[in-house]
Amino acid sequence: MGVVRDLWHAGGTGGLNWHLHAYCTRAQWQDTTAQLERFLNQLTPGSSQLLLIGASAGWMMPPSWLQRFKHIDSYDIDPLASRLFDWRHGKSLRTRGLRVQHHRQDALRTLGDVLQQHPKACVWFDNLLGQHRFRARDEVQAEQEIAALKETLQGRHWGSVHDLYSGPTHDMHWTPRISSLTRAGVDNSRIDSQHTQALLQEVGAKDVWVDHLTAQVFPQHTTTTLIPWAFKDRYCHWLQAGWVTPNRIT
Ligand SMILES: C[S@@+](CC[C@H](N)C(=O)[O-])C[C@H]1O[C@@H](n2cnc3c(N)ncnc32)[C@H](O)[C@@H]1O
Repeated sequence: MGVVRDLWHAGGTGGLNWHLHAYCTRAQWQDTTAQLERFLNQLTPGSSQLLLIGASAGWMMPPSWLQRFKHIDSYDIDPLASRLFDWRHGKSLRTRGLRVQHHRQDALRTLGDVLQQHPKACVWFDNLLGQHRFRARDEVQAEQEIAALKETLQGRHWGSVHDLYSGPTHDMHWTPRISSLTRAGVDNSRIDSQHTQALLQEVGAKDVWVDHLTAQVFPQHTTTTLIPWAFKDRYCHWLQAGWVTPNRIT
């Protein structure tokens, strides 16, 4: 029973359930993945080694980002992730001589060890931090653990894309776009309740929305990009993407 549950759910945040939905909906996610690609393209990763955490099959992962590295270590708890990732990205990466090593591992719980094993690598959290509240038993603890990551990551080049909020929208077709809310790059400390209301309004939010408890992922005053994601019919996520470059002491 445990094996079937693992394949289907992978801890409630991935698994066959997620892969089937991603496979069927990936064309509708193109605007969102294009915005993510634009965000990633303007980064300077600071290393040729990448730790890709929550890689899944890389359904939303732009190949252009992966191709900027020489070596990638990918981490996921989902038993299907490595095979599906190779199916989607393996050939093009191998053609470029790029090696990907897969680890089936809870990379949040073991982050300290992972970082120690790869002292020079940069880190990309690929849309998993917003799900931590559903895996952790306690919401307060989940929020604290998410907020504490930046301490563990001190001195690293690292970034994340994650859910900020998600919820139902009115029966309307809104087109994900770079709006005035997202275009200029948003200082994460300025996402207050007024800004949140504007985000919700922009996508025609209704009823109750989920706060993914990710407001404290980045250090204060990190410039972030907010990206709407039409996850499914009449259900939207607001994603936040950001990158942290360590301060250099010269
Ligand atoms: C929304 S999916 C990510 C999607 C993926 N980035 C893509 O483009 O297809 C979240 C992924 O994070 C994985 N995950 C969740 N918690 C994790 C953890 N603590 N360590 C490693 N992987 C985790 C899940 O198994 C799932 O595959």
